[in-house]
Amino acid sequence: MLTKEAVMHVLGGIEDPELKKPLTELDMVKFVDISGSNVTVGITLTVPGCPLKEKISSDVVEGVKFIEGVETVKVEFDVMTNEQREKLKQKLGMASAGGQVPASINKFAKRYIAVSSGKGGVGKSTVTSNLAAAMAKKGYKVGLLDADVYGFSIPRMLGVTGQPTAIDDKLIPLRKGDNLQVMSMGFFVGEDDPVIWRGPMLHKAINQFLTDVMWDDLDFLFLDLPPGTGDVTLTIAQQIPSAELLVVTTPQQTAVHVAGRVARLAEKTDLSVLGVIENMAYYETNGERDYIFGQDGGKQLAQELKAKFLGEIPLMKSLREGADSGNPVALEGSEDQIALFAAIAEAVVTSAPR
Ligand SMILES: Nc1ncnc2c1ncn2[C@@H]1O[C@H](COP(=O)(O)OP(=O)(O)OP(=O)(O)O)[C@@H](O)[C@H]1O
Ligand SMILES: [Mg+2]
Repeated sequence: MLTKEAVMHVLGGIEDPELKKPLTELDMVKFVDISGSNVTVGITLTVPGCPLKEKISSDVVEGVKFIEGVETVKVEFDVMTNEQREKLKQKLGMASAGGQVPASINKFAKRYIAVSSGKGGVGKSTVTSNLAAAMAKKGYKVGLLDADVYGFSIPRMLGVTGQPTAIDDKLIPLRKGDNLQVMSMGFFVGEDDPVIWRGPMLHKAINQFLTDVMWDDLDFLFLDLPPGTGDVTLTIAQQIPSAELLVVTTPQQTAVHVAGRVARLAEKTDLSVLGVIENMAYYETNGERDYIFGQDGGKQLAQELKAKFLGEIPLMKSLREGADSGNPVALEGSEDQIALFAAIAEAVVTSAPR
């Protein structure tokens, strides 16, 4: 029957597409007006020009029109006042920190996993994006922070584009599906624009991505680090002392050598080592494995570090293609590929850092 309660009940089942919480819970329902069989719903948007206004509108119309007795549904929008927004932020646990960067961040994830290597181009970002996607597919709430501010590649690899909406000084991360939140410098500059910053700016950018982003209460936050043992690793060690280091390496000795250096740096900075993933382990044709970059380097490194060997990933054309087209194989590849990343994700879930 058409009552205000019935309409509110329906609205309680509709989520804000970015904040992923019911409109009613976010205090976004301003009024419900029923006149005969015509319903008007007033919605208060968090920010003016909210890009997802259309989606909210169609969700409301689609939902409410199924209540018995409804003939027309109209949606009217206005925008939250500063006061209302502040209240909402408090509700979401995002009260502003008064512009100060805290010594270490408020914990919003159960585990923080920083993916690192000594050498560039070993597949950190490819592995991270697929692993995060596999983890989200399992139902965990996952965040992926592209901490490679200069050389970001996560947006393209996950096929996530757009500009994050800001609610005052807080950014809403973009999403891949329901369970994976993503933040990258790539959302703010063009893919071919250079980011020319010095150390302190870099430090600040990473801090902002950790403190001024409305991350959900996450099970895992993955941080895709830039190559090498640079400033970013130090910033992260400082801000998230509980972060675990996941080292990606190829089997090649030189890569192992450098990766070992990163991991030892981690020890110095008090970051724990979660384990090692060997990427580009071999290339398989007609059931024959060709160990292009040598064999077992990742296992050796894991032994050397007394860390867990979390799995190996072969060279696969489709992995590269999926990364280039924004369709990670962990979600959209063959059954074997989906299972491969699900298994590595499970190894991460069940291993505690050393
Ligand atoms: N197992 C694999 N099989 C085939 N191609 C791969 C594999 N792993 C990574 N690649 C490809 O290798 C290239 C480098 O990978 P990626 O960008 O993930 O490395 P990275 O370690 O993050 O690099 P950087 O140090 O620049 O951040 C990409 O083109 C990627 O698609
Ligand atoms: Mg990378």
